[in-house]
Amino acid sequence: MALLDRHSFEATSNSEEQTLRLGARLGSMLPSHCVVALQGEMGAGKTAFARGLGEGWGTSQPLRSPSFTLIQKHSRPQDSAVLYHVDLQRIESASDLASIGLRDLLEEEEVIVLIEWPERAEALLPPNALHIRIRSISETKRQFMFSAKNDQAWKVLIAFRKAAFGV
Ligand SMILES: Nc1ncnc2c1ncn2[C@@H]1O[C@H](COP(=O)(O)OP(=O)(O)OP(=O)(O)O)[C@@H](O)[C@H]1O
Ligand SMILES: [Mg+2]
Repeated sequence: MALLDRHSFEATSNSEEQTLRLGARLGSMLPSHCVVALQGEMGAGKTAFARGLGEGWGTSQPLRSPSFTLIQKHSRPQDSAVLYHVDLQRIESASDLASIGLRDLLEEEEVIVLIEWPERAEALLPPNALHIRIRSISETKRQFMFSAKNDQAWKVLIAFRKAAFGV
């Protein structure tokens, strides 16, 4: 765990299992309205982290790589909360993006929106999004950078850091 500037920190994962656990920890403590922007190259571990996050949040169905639908809606048994899992990998243009209705979805209240390949919709991301970037260091090692652009998001990340790493 390394502290970078005021609004970011890094952490290392040494296995897929550890990435799942990190995701689960964050998922268990997300506020009811939140955007999570999950960036990383192919095979970095975005979907692994997303799967953990879904588990921690309590989804009834596991999060998977979306195949045909770019947006998958998830619920959980204990309440009527909603988590959208969005994968923008196949988005190639502004009109592609407009056609999937992400803008409307981001305006919904009281939902969690988890976005893989968020750089394809950068202008739509709200200032309180949690930014996570995963970099592949070796076959099994991944470096995570967690960052926030405002204090609201940073508070969430600090609480997560404390819960996951004790600092
Ligand atoms: N520390 C680690 N954390 C996460 N995944 C890991 C780790 N070490 C190895 N892996 C492997 O890396 C792969 C990550 O795949 P995953 O589908 O999560 O990536 P992705 O970023 O969603 O890729 P894509 O953009 O192609 O969908 C898996 O095969 C997983 O087993
Ligand atoms: Mg994926």
